Amino acid sequence: MTPSQTNLSSAVLAVRGLSKHFGGVKALDGIDLHVAPGELLGVIGPNGAGKTALINTITGFYRATSGSIELDGQEISHLPMHQIGRLGISRTFQNIRLFKRMSVLENVLVAFKTYNQNPLRSFFRAGSARADIASAMHWLEQLQLADRADALASSLAYGDARRLEIARALAGEPRLLLLDEPAAGMNEAETAQLTRDIKKIRSSISSILLIEHDMGLIRALSDRIVAMDYGKKIAEGGAREVLEHPEVLRAYLGTEEEVTSP
Ligand SMILES: Nc1ncnc2c1ncn2[C@@H]1O[C@H](COP(=O)(O)OP(=O)(O)O)[C@@H](O)[C@H]1O
Ligand SMILES: [Mg+2]
Repeated sequence: MTPSQTNLSSAVLAVRGLSKHFGGVKALDGIDLHVAPGELLGVIGPNGAGKTALINTITGFYRATSGSIELDGQEISHLPMHQIGRLGISRTFQNIRLFKRMSVLENVLVAFKTYNQNPLRSFFRAGSARADIASAMHWLEQLQLADRADALASSLAYGDARRLEIARALAGEPRLLLLDEPAAGMNEAETAQLTRDIKKIRSSISSILLIEHDMGLIRALSDRIVAMDYGKKIAEGGAREVLEHPEVLRAYLGTEEEVTSP
């Protein structure tokens, strides 16, 4: 059975008829998609297609106008953001969001509940602190950042800062990881490293939804691709099928973005 044939009832994420309107703007306009267990779903589309709105609505940052969102069969579209996070969805942001005046390690530790319940002063006395630090260091190692653990987040190179966001998102051990243009602004070497890192973390996480403009990264990592334009799904399937789909080519035509990889 290919992932696209997976029974929807077994999907980690199932989105049905999802719409998010802002006045007259239909950021999402009846989106249907699912992510199967073990699957990495690539999501592409020109700027303004609704990709970030999709992540914002799945995570509860935006309230859906209509439609349903199920995580492991449980309806979550009415839940507040923190509860959706606790149920196992983490994300990274298109614009990096780190605590710049905290260390690299502390930026990962904020993912743990025990850390958030303890003021900084008492953190190192907390009973579960050691386990949290060990786990945070594990994720920093996975993203090649262990040797920068004590550095200030503000001192990180761009690619490292992006990878730190991913380490933090993984530290909560989510069922579903949502990555919003993780390679944006990265140079070629950084993108190649990111591709290797995402391949490596695949085995530690059930399912990933990856939004990307870098078609090399999308091709290298996606089991399946969904293309969006004007809030609608315009194509779905394997890389070749989607990247050569006439609707997809049309959507990218006349934009500065390219659907072909360099
Ligand atoms: N908070 C918001 N208020 C009003 N319009 C929004 C908001 N968020 C997104 N939009 C609109 O929704 C559309 C999709 O935006 P977005 O999801 O950011 O696109 P993408 O991530 O694919 O580039 C755009 O037209 C954008 O202007
Ligand atoms: Mg976006």
